[in-house]
Amino acid sequence: MRQIWIPRPGLPEVLELREAPDPAASAGEVRVRVEAAGVNFADIMGRMGMYPDLPRMPVVVGYEVSGRIDAVGAGVTEDWIGADIIALTRFGGYSDVICVPEAQVFVRPEGMDAAQGAAFPVNYLTAWQLVSVMGSLHPGETMLVHSAGGGVGIAATQIAKHFGAQVIGTASTGKHEALRKLGVDHCIDYTREDFETRVREITHGRGVELILDAVGGDSFKKSWRALAATGRLGMFGLSAAATGKQRSWLGFARAALSMPWLQFTPLALMNENKSAFGVNLGHLWGEIDRISNWMEELFHLYREGALKPVIAASFSFSEAPKAHHYIQDRKNFGKVLLVP
Ligand SMILES: NC(=O)c1ccc[n+]([C@@H]2O[C@H](COP(=O)([O-])OP(=O)(O)OC[C@H]3O[C@@H](n4cnc5c(N)ncnc54)[C@H](OP(=O)(O)O)[C@@H]3O)[C@@H](O)[C@H]2O)c1
Repeated sequence: MRQIWIPRPGLPEVLELREAPDPAASAGEVRVRVEAAGVNFADIMGRMGMYPDLPRMPVVVGYEVSGRIDAVGAGVTEDWIGADIIALTRFGGYSDVICVPEAQVFVRPEGMDAAQGAAFPVNYLTAWQLVSVMGSLHPGETMLVHSAGGGVGIAATQIAKHFGAQVIGTASTGKHEALRKLGVDHCIDYTREDFETRVREITHGRGVELILDAVGGDSFKKSWRALAATGRLGMFGLSAAATGKQRSWLGFARAALSMPWLQFTPLALMNENKSAFGVNLGHLWGEIDRISNWMEELFHLYREGALKPVIAASFSFSEAPKAHHYIQDRKNFGKVLLVP
């Protein structure tokens, strides 16, 4: 098998393609011939040595793959063999063969190809938890999503539009036209405009009911202030800590120190009629039944045509550094994939 390794923290060029014998499926596992693997921002933070959940280096990252099952371990039905699937992988997804516990595998809905499959689970599960499960977005409400052109941003927008909500999205300038086509009602160029001021203008001073913020740092404070009464702030990342393409403890410290450590007190929550919540899909491995139920709901919406993964670009395994550069240069509109 071929795998993309991170041997040490550094620039995208540290990514290294290595070969090893194919693994055998252990009891309770299936073996997948991978056709596409999803790239997530967490992989990039991991490569920079800034992702707390990362196992010790050298490591193969990757939270999701799609492909075909070619073998099963003891206790797993052979009916799986030949199935076109999506799998959640607790690291190791940057591989052309991988063994995964059966519970983390989902048959791809009819019509979903391998590329869409690899673009689906992390972005749509995260967006579902944020928008539906914890954000409780209702028809007629307004949602502000940061990094709206990223994988989670697009998934959240599609879900919110399906729910009959208005969407305001922040993104780099070049993505606004595509966001409008996706149904985003108002685009904010955060590189030139203050999003808090723009949200006030757009909502005539009212604020919005739901905000999805993975930028973090000072952005959490501004988002909190941009909430309307009954508003919910969903926090799910800290991309502000990635100030360059290499680890910067100074950048991390700035982002961490500017977080609203003192804002969300019980009294503030009560008096302002607002709530703040957090999401980390990578800490829900013990809740696979819950995740499976969410996947079923998402597949249902996919079959109805409400959800359609957007692929920004696919890179071959040998081009993995380019895939990381592409995201860090903020060029992606949608999901970036690695194809063996
Ligand atoms: N907690 C969870 O379970 C969970 C799950 C998935 C993702 N996330 C988080 O959600 C965020 C978005 O993830 P994603 O997969 O949707 O992203 P993505 O598809 O990789 O898109 C990245 C986009 O984020 C924007 N961005 C903001 N700050 C950036 C920075 N410092 N460096 C580079 N790009 C930056 C850029 O777009 P613009 O310039 O257009 O804004 C960039 O194109 C990340 O912070 C990620 O860690 C969290």
